[in-house]
Amino acid sequence: MTDVVILGLGYVGLPLAQEAVRAGASVCGYDVNEAIVASLNACRSHVDDLADSDIAEMRAGGFTATTDEAHIASAATAVICVPTPLSEDGGPDLAAVKAATRTIARNLRPGMLVILESTTYPGTTDEVVRPLLESSGLRAGVDFHLAFSPERIDPGNEKFGPRNTPKVVGGHSAACADRAVEFYGRFVDTVVRTKGTREAEMAKLLENTYRHVNIALVNEMARFCNQLGIDLWDVIRAASSKPFGFQAFYPGPGVGGHCIPIDPNYLSHNVRSKLGYPFRFVELAQEINATMPEYVARRAQDILNDSGLAVSGSSILLLGVTYKPDIADQRESPAVPLARLLQGQGAKLSYHDPYVEHWNCFDGGVPRVDDLSSAIAEADLVILVQSHGVYDADRLAGQARRFFDTRGVTKGPDVYRL
Ligand SMILES: NC(=O)c1ccc[n+]([C@@H]2O[C@H](COP(=O)([O-])OP(=O)(O)OC[C@H]3O[C@@H](n4cnc5c(N)ncnc54)[C@H](O)[C@@H]3O)[C@@H](O)[C@H]2O)c1
Repeated sequence: MTDVVILGLGYVGLPLAQEAVRAGASVCGYDVNEAIVASLNACRSHVDDLADSDIAEMRAGGFTATTDEAHIASAATAVICVPTPLSEDGGPDLAAVKAATRTIARNLRPGMLVILESTTYPGTTDEVVRPLLESSGLRAGVDFHLAFSPERIDPGNEKFGPRNTPKVVGGHSAACADRAVEFYGRFVDTVVRTKGTREAEMAKLLENTYRHVNIALVNEMARFCNQLGIDLWDVIRAASSKPFGFQAFYPGPGVGGHCIPIDPNYLSHNVRSKLGYPFRFVELAQEINATMPEYVARRAQDILNDSGLAVSGSSILLLGVTYKPDIADQRESPAVPLARLLQGQGAKLSYHDPYVEHWNCFDGGVPRVDDLSSAIAEADLVILVQSHGVYDADRLAGQARRFFDTRGVTKGPDVYRL
């Protein structure tokens, strides 16, 4: 008997598997990607937060990865951690969630606990997952347990990991919630219970919408503060001295990652399709954040123009192309639309990123520079897109002909800031 089988061994599923193994549980990982399964069984990690040595430790603790769904039938708990990308109509594409749920349904046994962790719109657990599981003939809350628990993992965060980040749990019934709380309680310090699965689903979307909207607020302010000659980063620093009622958010070249630019759309799509009216905050935030790369490209054009240069024919070096500092994850990085815009205007683009060997941003790609110092000195314009910790931005700015800091990390006077 396996304690838990985790379906989907990516950024969410693997750290969960690691915590469960560390807590002494017997853990099996199920994934449809054979290459990922083979590399994990060979102790190779493919996510930022886990090193090869972590996978080796998990393997020594009994963890195995498999593409064989028969292993699910012998598990006490099955957790779904598969992707929910945006579909063409703006809602979540639930194809992987449905496929994983059907896989569990074929192997469902009485007494099993099934938990959905993938981010989705409120109602998914009850309206999509439950009927698929019940097609097995077993009933949720009677024959098996069902719960939703959103994943809050913050890749690269050294302070908060799966153990000390409180886990929200909503059950299909009180008994389902009890089972899920007991399950997570074995390896998460704090478990927070909601009334039902919809409240847990909505809690995740509130968290991410809150970030999305507040980032949009400072991004919009960045545009007019620049025109008014006000340093917004200094403004935020001053406002942050208020010990209550204010949380700092920072402007940037756009919002990236798998969650913040995507999840709030699940909610606005859901509100529109179920209730027929828009969720205006999300739609406005989406519009502002999605046009930040355009704003940065326009500012780059202005900066070159100040020196009598055009974007066309100018050499532009992009520093940092991942969506967050100090990790390799490039998903939804605003560096991609920015590069596309500049390339479309005829710029001679190159990039540097200590975490990205090959940047497959679009057909033809952008060449990587290895010798950072000479590339900086030679470029007509250097744009700091992502401020990785290894970049000493003020020193790099001092070597550049023109330096555009989109992250507000430089202190010197001779830089252009967002
Ligand atoms: N990455 C994050 O920081 C983060 C944070 C919070 C929530 N989430 C949410 O968690 C979910 C998973 O995200 P992720 O970042 O771990 O994705 P990921 O792409 O890193 O990993 C998902 C894995 O699921 C596998 N998979 C796809 N279909 C499958 C199926 N039918 N059965 C079994 N495995 C299958 C894929 O092969 C892949 O290995 C998404 O809903 C996401 O929105 C992600």
